[in-house]
Amino acid sequence: MSEASLLKQTLREVMSGQARASADPHRPAWHLAAPVGLLNDPNGFIQHNGRFHLFYQWNPLACAHGAKFWGHWSSVDLLHWRHEPVALVPCEEYESHGCYSGSAVSDDGTLTLVYTGNVKYPDGARTAFQCLARENAYGEFDKSGPVLALPPGYTGHVRDPKVWRHEGQWYMVLGAQDLRLQGKVLLLRSADLTCWEPVGEIAGSGLNGLGEFGYMWECPDLFALDDTDVLICCPQGLAAQSERYLNTFQAGYFTGKLDYQSGAFPHGEFTELDVGFEFYAPQTTLSDDGRRLLFGWMGIPDGDEFYQPTRQQGWIHTMTCPRELTLRNGKMVQQPARELQQLRGREQEWQGAPQEAPHWDISQAELVIQTGTPFLADLGGALSLQWDGERLTLSRRNLRSGEREHRYWRGDLRELRLLCDHSSVEIFINQGEAVMSSRYFPAQPAQIHFTGQESIALRYWPLSDCVIE
Ligand code: FRU
Repeated sequence: MSEASLLKQTLREVMSGQARASADPHRPAWHLAAPVGLLNDPNGFIQHNGRFHLFYQWNPLACAHGAKFWGHWSSVDLLHWRHEPVALVPCEEYESHGCYSGSAVSDDGTLTLVYTGNVKYPDGARTAFQCLARENAYGEFDKSGPVLALPPGYTGHVRDPKVWRHEGQWYMVLGAQDLRLQGKVLLLRSADLTCWEPVGEIAGSGLNGLGEFGYMWECPDLFALDDTDVLICCPQGLAAQSERYLNTFQAGYFTGKLDYQSGAFPHGEFTELDVGFEFYAPQTTLSDDGRRLLFGWMGIPDGDEFYQPTRQQGWIHTMTCPRELTLRNGKMVQQPARELQQLRGREQEWQGAPQEAPHWDISQAELVIQTGTPFLADLGGALSLQWDGERLTLSRRNLRSGEREHRYWRGDLRELRLLCDHSSVEIFINQGEAVMSSRYFPAQPAQIHFTGQESIALRYWPLSDCVIE
């Protein structure tokens, strides 16, 4: 379809569906969600000329995966966002099956997108092109087409370029699958964003001491925190263990030191970035004030996503809240971006026996729980959080089967910070030592109920709305 027809269809979907989607009681009040249709990965996250830009994988035409567009929002404060012109529409041959994920850079002052043109053939074969598009005077993006075809030695699964500048050169990491069906991350170098020279495979299944570690690695991101290089990636095909790797696909990181000349990246163990039910394909950027910020997709690509009730209202999925990344004792720590504190209303504090705690409304709220002793919190009858002294367990009923399902964290629990928004909760454990992000679909307004034997200390803030203009 031509760009004009795809945009006309999009306009019709938005005009006919937006009122219903915004009236959905499960609709977030302060998280980013697409007006209609399916949203997945955050793309092109950058602060450019002082403004934050966040693009997103978007199918405006159905609550299904398919030929993705890039939607576009911008903000000065990470809180109040405005819609920008749709950035990429999959209308060229080299992106016939989607303008897939990628990143943004400021190239000599011009906001420039680097993304994957995804192409599928009728016989099931596929290929991928890494493509460029540059912002014009109207805030739209002019495509300059492919700058990199499939590198030899890989299947058609090569995608999700993340580009950054280092010592006067551009570097790109790419998710890839080699011909032995092993997931890899490739590093490439360029002087001009157009001619790319391969540096090598920096990580992957079978490399750097890893055994079999997945058949495809999606959405890599590489950046420095202090003197350490962090590689974020999303390996597909890790076998579930009793308390780890329980989602269909994982998002996690390695720390190490990248040799930019040889591509050598000796690294430590893979650690999951988030141990909740829904978190995938995160992307980071460096803000002007030097913070490493992250947005993730509060979703997982698997069959269960289509049982979420919002699909009936014509929209599905949200972003996570923006998070700040730091290293603490060699481990990545995630905290809600400090800007989010501006959403807080009047604080309430409470201490005592869990059963007697107020049944606060958690539709839009932040709650801090300080306790070392066992307790159970019920969130709107649709999600429960239990601490038994050794293990934190998040449980809910699976939307497809109705069976109970669980996610776990073990450690020395001191504090939990819950950020709630109608149909989601992000749980920051011990000031960001671990995070559990999940969607859930309680009757609104949802309340929190505690049970337990000993004392619990709570702080609570209602959070204000933050709609997209
Ligand atoms: C991750 C992902 C990416 C791809 C995009 C397509 O969720 O599969 O690898 O570029 O989504 O929407």
